[in-house]
Amino acid sequence: MVMALWSGRFEHDASAFAQEFGASLPVDRRMYRQDIAGSRAHAAMLAQQGILSCEDARALDEGLARVRERMESGEFAFDIRDEDVHMAVERALIEDIGDAGARLHTGRSRNDQVATDARMYAKECCRALMEGNLSLRRALVERARSSDGCILPGYTHLQHAQPVLFAHHLLAYAWMLARDFRRLQAAYDAADACPLGAAALAGTTYPLDRQATAQALGFARVVQNSLDAVSDRDFLLDLEYACAVCMVHLSRLCEEIVLWASSEFGFIVLADEFSTGSSIMPQKKNPDFAELVRGKTGRVVGDLTALLVTLKALPLAYNKDLQEDKEGAFDAVDTLQGALQCVEGMVATMEVNDRAMRAQAEKGHMAATDVADYLAKRGLPFREAHAVVGRLVLQCEKRGCELSELPFEEFKAASSLFEEDVASCLSVEGIVAARTTEGGTAPCAVEAQLANVEEGISCDEAFLCSVEAPE
Ligand code: ARG
Repeated sequence: MVMALWSGRFEHDASAFAQEFGASLPVDRRMYRQDIAGSRAHAAMLAQQGILSCEDARALDEGLARVRERMESGEFAFDIRDEDVHMAVERALIEDIGDAGARLHTGRSRNDQVATDARMYAKECCRALMEGNLSLRRALVERARSSDGCILPGYTHLQHAQPVLFAHHLLAYAWMLARDFRRLQAAYDAADACPLGAAALAGTTYPLDRQATAQALGFARVVQNSLDAVSDRDFLLDLEYACAVCMVHLSRLCEEIVLWASSEFGFIVLADEFSTGSSIMPQKKNPDFAELVRGKTGRVVGDLTALLVTLKALPLAYNKDLQEDKEGAFDAVDTLQGALQCVEGMVATMEVNDRAMRAQAEKGHMAATDVADYLAKRGLPFREAHAVVGRLVLQCEKRGCELSELPFEEFKAASSLFEEDVASCLSVEGIVAARTTEGGTAPCAVEAQLANVEEGISCDEAFLCSVEAPE
């Protein structure tokens, strides 16, 4: 018979239904490592402060290590009647070491305990997501490096606009991911404060050393207000926001992958490893995984929204509503983790059809801006030059040819400023090569950009090493 650890005040157990409804164990059991580490640090501090005897502290430490081993090996049978991971660990400990185990919860509440576990777990998640983020950035850089000279149409409004290097296009995503990394760093920093010692809400009457537990658990600081410590979950909002933005970025790349893999575009062929077939149409090769990442983005945005709404108007301090914080946060993290891996796999293994990209880059009068610039550089006000070239494009449309195919006489007739050298603005390579502005698509500018992206990756790798988990 499992009796609630608070059974003293009660005459009856909660109904079986209520116990199950109120339990968070299925969700929070994954924090058992953090919970046990927190308890070990708390017990050691209690002994240091003379609140517990050294024998009790030793028994607690050894007992907690055993509970961890049993949970690690899967041998431990979690019981939903324990409500949450904190109760499960404490009960297992008391069953193992008796009296000393029953002293662990001195000067502590599940309220500061759960906030501590969740912050430690969130830091762990940030580290894992940073790994995945870096891995995908490296895959994008590798692709960009190996796509030498490959040109595709750049689009606005999904209409051919100006040709760009495929490397340039891929690097746009690498930069988004670099900023996603910053957001994970911010989430990491937000979580990096220890609530232990806040107890239920107001602090405790024991002479706890909050700095000692915070330091032992690898926190940068302690939360300065006990009410705030047990009642806010904004560090999870930060994490979920970081996940949601990154998913939105991945959904954009995935949308392009779906388009590029279509027969209409034919820019890429996804590897079999990242494609699926149809149960009825034998010819199909579908970009399911890109679609799934795109689809899962909605879930993660939902996770963020759900927690925002849970926290809205919640009075201080701890309320059981807060138990709803973890499921969405874990889901957002798991989903992003999988999505990063999936996109990395697709990017690394897709076959790029540079001829198809290049062929499309010849279409859509993409030289028009450069031809207008040609006139403007020869003195015609840009607005007028724009109108001259607009008329030339209209002529092309009527003839069914490209601007680059229009005979020179037509150019001359449109403006006497045109000379034979206008041909230099009409080639796709020329158009790309001319965009040498910092951050532009010319090969030399993209080369410089690649170096910056790589420098950013090295710098973030160094950050990740500096926050490796303390064991
Ligand atoms: N399972 C709870 C949660 O996740 C732990 C804290 C419970 N505290 C309480 N006073 N009921 O929020």
